[in-house]
Amino acid sequence: MNAVPPRPMNGAPPTQATGGAAATEPLLSVRGLAKHFAVRRGVIRSRTVGQVRAVDDVSFDIARGETLALVGESGCGKSTTGRLVLRLLTPTAGAIRFKGQDIATLPDEAMRRLRRHLQIIFQDPYASLNPRMTVGEILAEPMRVHDPEGQAAHAGRVAELLSVVGLSPDHARRYPHQFSGGQRQRIGIARALAVHPDLIVCDEPVSALDVSIQAQVVNLLQNLQQRFGLSYLFIAHDLAVVKHIADRVAVMYLGRLVEIADKRSLFATPRHPYTEALLSAIPRPDPHARRERIVLRGDVPSAMNPPPGCRFHTRCSRVQERCRTEEPALAGPAGGHRVACFFPLEGSSSGVAATPGATAARTDEAFRRRLAAFETAAGQRAPRAERDPVSPRTRRPCG
Ligand SMILES: Nc1ncnc2c1ncn2[C@@H]1O[C@H](COP(=O)(O)OP(=O)(O)OP(=O)(O)O)[C@@H](O)[C@H]1O
Ligand code: SF4
Ligand SMILES: [Mg+2]
Repeated sequence: MNAVPPRPMNGAPPTQATGGAAATEPLLSVRGLAKHFAVRRGVIRSRTVGQVRAVDDVSFDIARGETLALVGESGCGKSTTGRLVLRLLTPTAGAIRFKGQDIATLPDEAMRRLRRHLQIIFQDPYASLNPRMTVGEILAEPMRVHDPEGQAAHAGRVAELLSVVGLSPDHARRYPHQFSGGQRQRIGIARALAVHPDLIVCDEPVSALDVSIQAQVVNLLQNLQQRFGLSYLFIAHDLAVVKHIADRVAVMYLGRLVEIADKRSLFATPRHPYTEALLSAIPRPDPHARRERIVLRGDVPSAMNPPPGCRFHTRCSRVQERCRTEEPALAGPAGGHRVACFFPLEGSSSGVAATPGATAARTDEAFRRRLAAFETAAGQRAPRAERDPVSPRTRRPCG
């Protein structure tokens, strides 16, 4: 199969990076990012009655070819962070450096030119695909916007993109409703790839899909990452998916990052009580490795009125007086395991081993089976639910 574009989609992959500062500089560097939404009341005389602090002082880096997963409960600010990174939302404060350039305050026209490097894949591919356009038109549209001169090559590129994501070039003539959920997500991925991006924000890209299809789409994303040197900000609820695809994991609570670490370190030795609680929801039947599920007390406080001090203190089992008045900063070695907690966990037994092999035997059977499904899905024949509902003869291997 030929590569989609006539040149590498994203320059050299990370291992082939040329020397100098560019080789070590993160692709994306976010510092002190904040987004506060004004809450307004009143129909005739509308007035601001408060601010939703959806994202508050968030900092992280993403290297070329890296996947940073962003996890946390519903409403904690994951999607808002993703949209800020793409500048689909204007930040209230903070810096977003992309390839060394601060894009947080970039004028609209300059941002429009840059946008092809930053793409998004949505949770609901159907809602994000125009039902009145053919797949060919959907894929050609971003090319037309970003590369109007190269129109003659667009049809060929559409066919290549469809092949790259495991669909048939014949599918270009069909409409979104003629595809299954997994196929639509492949179209969403092809659309993101159409303009040679460097970074893709994947906002819950497999949450709406059947488990077996999830594995295929996750493996497709990994294959494409290796092939084109892509970086992902991967937003997800499902820790099995995160454990499979992420290089590093950032845990978000009520608009703030509370822990960020290499995947193995975070799954094996979570240090923030909130991360520990999230991971404890993954059961382990092995009596020698049994871990109590930690049920968090109370609801997530309102992002309009977050608690003073540590935002997690209203639900934390380790809370002490200091936590109620002082806010802990994310601390730890740069690029290492960082945690925002005055009294972090020290032990090594509360987590879930992230390495396959001997330690994998300790994980819950169902969870292990799900991971195995991800491992083996690549290259497999699509299951019945994923088959082309229109013409089985045009079906291609998936992943
Ligand atoms: N346009 C907006 N105006 C006002 N508040 C908003 C807006 N967009 C998001 N919010 C609020 O910001 C907070 C974070 O929302 P966000 O969608 O980023 O959360 P999330 O972590 O992606 O949640 P989920 O897992 O449910 O998708 C929520 O309290 C949400 O209600
Ligand atoms: S700072 Fe205190 S309240 Fe916050 S997570 Fe740590 S122990 Fe819990
Ligand atoms: Mg969201």
